[in-house]
Amino acid sequence: MSIRRRVASRQSHARTAVSAASAPVAAATPAGIVTEIAEAAIPQDERVWVPQAPDVWFRPLLLNTVSGGWCNLLRVRRAGVLSRHRHPMIVTGYVIRGRWRYLEHDWVAEPGSFVYEPPGEIHTLVVPDDCVEMITYFNISGAMIYVDERGATVGYEDVWTKIAMCREHYDSVGLGATYVDRYIR
Ligand SMILES: [Fe+2]
Repeated sequence: MSIRRRVASRQSHARTAVSAASAPVAAATPAGIVTEIAEAAIPQDERVWVPQAPDVWFRPLLLNTVSGGWCNLLRVRRAGVLSRHRHPMIVTGYVIRGRWRYLEHDWVAEPGSFVYEPPGEIHTLVVPDDCVEMITYFNISGAMIYVDERGATVGYEDVWTKIAMCREHYDSVGLGATYVDRYIR
């Protein structure tokens, strides 16, 4: 094969690879597969935010009933101590707006910060006085276990309590209790 023909052949293969890579996969979708979720994380509709406490809301993104856990945005519009808690499994977070910290650590989480919280650690979430609003994405495995100053358990949240909160709120604001179903997997 001449050099010119070899180059033409390579170019032809390259075009085939590019067009194949940009085409949708034609294989059949497995029966029973659940649908994906893809939407703006910060919602246009204020009603999607579920009140959690005075000036504290969560916005569900994924309610995982298979392995137990949930992904959500936490929005806080007040300063001070929010909660003292521990997790039996890992938690990761990414700060979108505002700032916060744990009393037990000397770092401050701010926009762009990634946080990994190890299983078993007790920490106390605090929003500083000069922060008007903080929004953080959290991926929570297992549960949130709330504790008092001595570390004794005073409450918990898991994917089922989060779903129940969503159902009650969405029903009360006119979205309908089943609105939460779109986030349940
Ligand atoms: Fe935590």
